[in-house]
Amino acid sequence: MTDGTREADREVLRPHAEQEYAQELARLAELDERPRPPGWKLSPWAVTTYLLGGELPDGTVVTPKYVGPRRLVEVAVATLATDRALLLLGVPGTAKTWVSEHLAAAISGDSTLLVQGTAGTPEEAIRYGWNYARLLAEGPSERALVPGPLMRAMRLGAVARVEELTRIPSDVQDALITILSEKTLPIPELDTEVQARRGFTVIATANDRDRGVNELSSALRRRFNTVVLPVPASAEDEVEIVSRRVAQLGRALELPDASTGLAEIRRVVTVFRELRSGLTEDGRTRLKTPSGTLSTAEAISVITGGLALAAHFGDGSLRPGDIAAGLQGSVISDPVSDRVVWREYLETVVRDRPGWRDFYQACRDTAL
Ligand SMILES: Nc1ncnc2c1ncn2[C@@H]1O[C@H](COP(=O)(O)OP(=O)(O)O)[C@@H](O)[C@H]1O
Ligand SMILES: [Mg+2]
Repeated sequence: MTDGTREADREVLRPHAEQEYAQELARLAELDERPRPPGWKLSPWAVTTYLLGGELPDGTVVTPKYVGPRRLVEVAVATLATDRALLLLGVPGTAKTWVSEHLAAAISGDSTLLVQGTAGTPEEAIRYGWNYARLLAEGPSERALVPGPLMRAMRLGAVARVEELTRIPSDVQDALITILSEKTLPIPELDTEVQARRGFTVIATANDRDRGVNELSSALRRRFNTVVLPVPASAEDEVEIVSRRVAQLGRALELPDASTGLAEIRRVVTVFRELRSGLTEDGRTRLKTPSGTLSTAEAISVITGGLALAAHFGDGSLRPGDIAAGLQGSVISDPVSDRVVWREYLETVVRDRPGWRDFYQACRDTAL
């Protein structure tokens, strides 16, 4: 990469993982002496270290990207070193997309070979399309063919990503079966095929809550090893995840240092965990649960939004008043039932909790 591109990378709103962590990846590659599967930029060990963080023999610190059970990451990485594809499953906000991007960046150095699954994803997105002007002018030819991300990944021997696999209509999903079982993509119009180079594999993500939307066919499911990403095990883990990510986003957005906001981060995480589980931290009070997910990812945006308020309209430190609106906004996604749940929580738990008076007041003042 030239200095010119680096400069350009800094200007983009959201660099790809392989751009943002280019230095860590380069260092890992240099020091990595373990065997690399064909087509891989790093050994499975180094990929795991990139994801979970660690210190390299030369003192380079690799920042953790994912906070969670090591075994789970090892299983995911080991799967990709076989001929099976990987399915990351979990409720929203459990870092499925995040982990898939970082795995692709570490394994192939390219996380951009991506199909976004929706109810409207056409078969061309999985296979290939045509440049119609050329197709009409010249007939079907290699030049008129527009390869999709999977075809490009097959040619490169790289990781392709399929987001929200279960939202894709079943007949379109089926286009993946040949690709995954035969590692071949036929192009009948040209009487030819693309054979995947070594290193090609697929990481798909799917939302637990979408189960039943477009259930994976058993033929397709057999091609995947499934790894379920859990919600953070403890409040400390979740606070760590939120602080790290907020600090990172804050730097990119040039917001004030998030470390001043640790107390508020703890507070948001506590509220989210209690409402999610329907039980207060001390286990004493049962709570009604709101309809939304209250994911870690939402906690991250509540804090980031609060930091922006603090930076632009406050004195730069994060205070209860900066998070009250954002927090209530995420809790109350259904304006009727969730408002009742929130009111009850506010009056029975928040009001009398030691040290939470200012937060209680801020929520009352910004009552939604
Ligand atoms: N266990 C975790 N470790 C690190 N980051 C996490 C974790 N859980 C959530 N996050 C953060 O929350 C966000 C999760 O978003 P995303 O990957 O889009 O979730 P999903 O695809 O599962 O809905 C990411 O920005 C990520 O940084
Ligand atoms: Mg996702």
